[in-house]
Amino acid sequence: MINHKNTREQKLQRIIESEKILNEIQDVDVLLERLLTEARSIVHADAGSIYVCENENLKIKYTQNDTQQRNLALGQKIPYSYFSFPINEKSISGYCVVTGNLVNVKDVYAIPSDKPYKFNSQPDLLTGYKTHSILSIPLRTAAGHTLGVLQIINPLDEEGNAISFDDDAELYIKHFAASATQALERTYLTRGMIMRLVKMAGLRDPKETSHHVQRVSRFAVEIYDTWANKKGISPEEQNRYRDSLSIAAMLHDCGKVGISDAILKKPARFTPEEHDIIKMHCCVGAKLFYPYQSLLDEMVLEVVLHHHEKWDGTGYPGEIDIEKANDGDLNSMIHGKPMQKEEIPLSARIVALADVFDALSSKRVYKEEWSEEDVLNEVQESAGKHFDPDVVMAFFEVLPTLRGIQASFAEV
Ligand code: SIN
Ligand code: SIN
Ligand code: FE
Ligand code: FE
Repeated sequence: MINHKNTREQKLQRIIESEKILNEIQDVDVLLERLLTEARSIVHADAGSIYVCENENLKIKYTQNDTQQRNLALGQKIPYSYFSFPINEKSISGYCVVTGNLVNVKDVYAIPSDKPYKFNSQPDLLTGYKTHSILSIPLRTAAGHTLGVLQIINPLDEEGNAISFDDDAELYIKHFAASATQALERTYLTRGMIMRLVKMAGLRDPKETSHHVQRVSRFAVEIYDTWANKKGISPEEQNRYRDSLSIAAMLHDCGKVGISDAILKKPARFTPEEHDIIKMHCCVGAKLFYPYQSLLDEMVLEVVLHHHEKWDGTGYPGEIDIEKANDGDLNSMIHGKPMQKEEIPLSARIVALADVFDALSSKRVYKEEWSEEDVLNEVQESAGKHFDPDVVMAFFEVLPTLRGIQASFAEV
C-alpha cells in the first residue's frame, strides 16, 4: 500500500530540487533542455518535447524519448528534430498557446471530434513509437507573454506501462511550469545582452553574425557532451560546464569590437601587419571579462583569449598576462609563450573546432562555402595539428546532431 502523503512530500521535494537546478542555469538552450528533463522526471514521463514561440510559429527545440534512447549506444542522442508550425488551435501545443491553458489528453488516438485540435500521428508512424497520452502546458509569463510550450508524453506506471496524466500530475506540472517560466525569462534577458555584445562585434566584422555564434555555441555544447561522456565526467560537472561553455562560445570573437573595421571589412587577404592587428581581438575581448566576477566570466575569458591556439603549439596568442597586456602593444597582446595540447583550456580547444567548422561550412565575401566532404577532410587532417584529437573524435561521433543544428538554422 503506497503512503500517499509520503509520496506527495517526496514529489514536492523533487520539484523544489528541480527548481533550484533551473535557477542556477544561465543559458537559454541549456535551460530548455534541462527543463524538459526535469519535468519528465517529476511525473515519470517517458518522452516529451519543448517548443519556443518564434514570430507566429512554434519551433521545436528539444525532443527526448527514453524508450528510443535505450535502443541507442551510450551517449548517442535521438535524431535531432527541427521543424516549426503555425500557432493555431489545430495542434495540441498551438491550442495551448492560443487559449493559455494546460491541455491533458488522456488518449491521443481517441480525441473527441468536437475538439479543434488533432494529434499528429506522423512521428509515431515514422518511429514506431506509440504515443498514448500528452500533457501540454504553455510557458506563460506573469505579464501574459507565452514563451513556449512544454509537452510531456506517456507517464509510466510501476510496470513501465504508459498511462494517462492524473490530477496530481497536472498540479505538479502547473507549479513546475510557473517557476520554469521565470527561470526562462531570466535566461532570455541574459541571452539578449549577449546578443547585443555580439552585434557590437558584428558592427566591426560583419561575419560575426548572431547565427554564426549560436551555431558555434550549439556545436560546442554537443561536442563537449560527447567528450565528457567518454571521459566519465560527473553529471554535475557536465551540467555546470556546458552551461558556461554555451555562453562563452557565443562570445568568442567579442573582442573584434576593439579592432578597426577598415581592416576587418577588407574584402581581400590581410597583410601580415594587418593580421597581427586582428590577432589582438583575443586579448581585447579577454580584457572585457577581467577581473572575473563569476565562474562564467572565467570561462568566457579562457575561450575569448585562447580560441586561436593550436594543439601543436603554432597558434596565438599563447600565455598572456592579461593585467599587463597593453592595448595596441603587440608584444604584450599577441606574442605570449606558445601553448600546446592540454595547456590550452578545454573550452577553447572545443570552440576552436566549432568555430572553424562553421566558418568553412559558410559562405563568406571572399569564399564560397565548402562542401561537407571537404570540410570533414580538413577537420580530420587537422587532428593533432590544429585540433585536439579527442575533440575531433567527439566531433565525428556527434556529427548527425551537428548536421541537425545546421539544418535548423538554414530553415529560419
Ligand atoms: C577571426 O577570428 O575571425 C580572425 C582570426 C584570424 O584570422 O587569425
Ligand atoms: C571566425 O568566425 O572567427 C572564423 C573566421 C570566419 O568566420 O571566416
Ligand atoms: Fe577569433
Ligand atoms: Fe567566429
